[in-house]
Amino acid sequence: MNVVWRILFYIGVLWRFYGCRHFIVEAACPKGCLCLSPAQVMCNSGELREIPLKNMPLTVETLALQKNIFPVIKSDAFLGLKALRKLSLDRNNITTIKPFAFRGLPRLRDLSIQHTPLAVVASFAFAGLQNVSQISLCHNKILRIEAYAFAGSAGIRLLNLADNPTVLVETNAFSSLSSVDRLILPSGIRNISQDAFFALDMVGYLKLSFMDLSEVSAFTFRGLTNVKLLSLQESDLGVISANAFDGLDHVDTLNILNNKIDAIHELNITAVNHVRTLRLQGNHLLETPEPGSITLEGLGVLHVVGNYFPCGCHIHTLLDSPLANGSYASGEDFLSKNYCISPLEVNGLQMAQLDIFAIGRCHEQVTRENLEASGAASLAVSLDHFRWCRGSSSCISSLPYKEQCPVGDSENLEEMPV
Ligand SMILES: *[C@@H]1O[C@H](CO)[C@@H](O)[C@H](O)[C@H]1NC(C)=O
Ligand SMILES: *[C@@H]1O[C@H](CO)[C@@H](O)[C@H](O)[C@H]1NC(C)=O
Ligand SMILES: *[C@@H]1O[C@H](CO)[C@@H](O)[C@H](O)[C@H]1NC(C)=O
Ligand SMILES: *[C@@H]1O[C@H](CO)[C@@H](O)[C@H](O)[C@H]1NC(C)=O
Ligand SMILES: *[C@@H]1O[C@H](CO)[C@@H](O)[C@H](O)[C@H]1NC(C)=O
Repeated sequence: MNVVWRILFYIGVLWRFYGCRHFIVEAACPKGCLCLSPAQVMCNSGELREIPLKNMPLTVETLALQKNIFPVIKSDAFLGLKALRKLSLDRNNITTIKPFAFRGLPRLRDLSIQHTPLAVVASFAFAGLQNVSQISLCHNKILRIEAYAFAGSAGIRLLNLADNPTVLVETNAFSSLSSVDRLILPSGIRNISQDAFFALDMVGYLKLSFMDLSEVSAFTFRGLTNVKLLSLQESDLGVISANAFDGLDHVDTLNILNNKIDAIHELNITAVNHVRTLRLQGNHLLETPEPGSITLEGLGVLHVVGNYFPCGCHIHTLLDSPLANGSYASGEDFLSKNYCISPLEVNGLQMAQLDIFAIGRCHEQVTRENLEASGAASLAVSLDHFRWCRGSSSCISSLPYKEQCPVGDSENLEEMPV
C-alpha cells in the first residue's frame, strides 16, 4: 500500500512538473514566434495567417511580425498589448488595414509597414494612435491616401511614404497630424485634392517632388499652417490655378524649384499668407502670365533665379509683373539671373543679353500663331527630359534627391542573431 502510494505520488509530481513546464512554454510564447525576452518577440517564421495574440506576453515592447502571410489587419488587431512600443509588420502579404487597426496601444511609438502589397491607406486605418511618433510606410504599393486616414493620431512626427506609386491624395488625407516634423510623400503623385493638407497645423518640412500634376488646383494648400519649409520641386505642376495658395498660412519658406509649369492662371500671395521667403528657382514656365495675374505682397524675401520664361512680345508683361518690376530687391537683377525659353532663336539665352527695347509689345493678335509655333518648337528641345519623364515611373525613380525610408530598427531586428 505504501509503495503504491509512493509510486502514485511520484507519478503525480512528475505529471505536474512536466505539465507545468509545458504550460509555461506555451503561455510564454505564441506558436510560430520566438520570445527573446518578455519584452521582445519575433514572429518571422513565415507561416502566420493571423496576428498571434493568443499567448502573446502582455509585457511585449518590441514585436516583429515580418515575412508572414496575413492579408488583413483587422480593427483592434493588437488590443491588450499595453506595453508595446515598437511594431514591425514589414514584408507581409498585407492588402487591407481595417479602420482603427492599431487602436488601444497607449505606448506604441514606432510603427513600420514596408515592402507589402498594401494599395490603399484607408480612412481611419491609422486612427487613434495616441502616442505614435513615427510611421514608416515606404516601399508599399500605396495608390491612394484616403480622407482621415490618420484621424486622432496627433503625435505623429515622422510620416514616411517614400517609394509608393501614390496617385491620389484625398481631401483631408492628413487631417489631425498636428505636429509633423517631416512628411515625406512618394514620387509621381498625379492628383492632390483640394484641402489635401487641411489641418496640418505644424509642419517642419513638407516636400512635394517628382509630381505629375495637370494642375495645382484651387485650395490645394488650404488649412496648412505653420510650415517651416514647403517645397514644390522637380515636378510637372501643370497649370497653377486661381486660388491655389489660398488658405496657406504662416510659411517660413515656400520653394518652387526646378518645375515645369504650363501656365500661371493666378499666383496670389499676400500678407494674409504670412510667407516669409518665396523662392522661384530653376523653373520652366511655358506661358507668360496675363497682366495682373501675379500678386506678391507682404513677402520678406523674393528670389527669382535661374528660371526660363518666354521672351516673345509678352516679355514686357513679365517685366511689369511683381516677379521682375523691382517691388522686391531680386527684381532688380531679374534679367541677369533668368533665361529665355522661347522663341527658339533665344532659347537658353540670359535675358540680360536681349535687346528688350527692340522687342515690340504684343499687339492685338499680331502673328500670335507664329510666335506660339516657334515657342512649341523650342520646348521640344529644352523640355525633352520632362516629356520623357511624364508617366514613366522608371525615370522618376532614377532621378536624384529621392527620400529614402530611414534604415530603422525594424531592419536591425531582422539582422539580430537568433
Ligand atoms: C497574398 O494575399 C493575396 C490576396 O489576399 C492572395 O491572393 C495571395 O495568395 C497571398 N499570397 C500568399 C503568399 O499567401
Ligand atoms: C507617450 O510618449 C511620451 C514620450 O515618450 C511618454 O512620456 C508618455 O508616457 C507616453 N504615454 C503613454 C500613455 O505611455
Ligand atoms: C482628382 O481626384 C478627384 C477625386 O478622385 C477627382 O474628382 C478629380 O477629378 C481628379 N482631378 C484630376 C485633375 O485628375
Ligand atoms: C488675392 O488674395 C487676397 C487675400 O486672400 C484677396 O483679398 C485678393 O482679392 C486676391 N487677389 C486676386 C487678384 O485674386
Ligand atoms: C509691381 O507690380 C505690382 C503689381 O502690378 C504693383 O502693385 C507694384 O507697384 C509694382 N512695383 C513697382 C516698383 O513698380
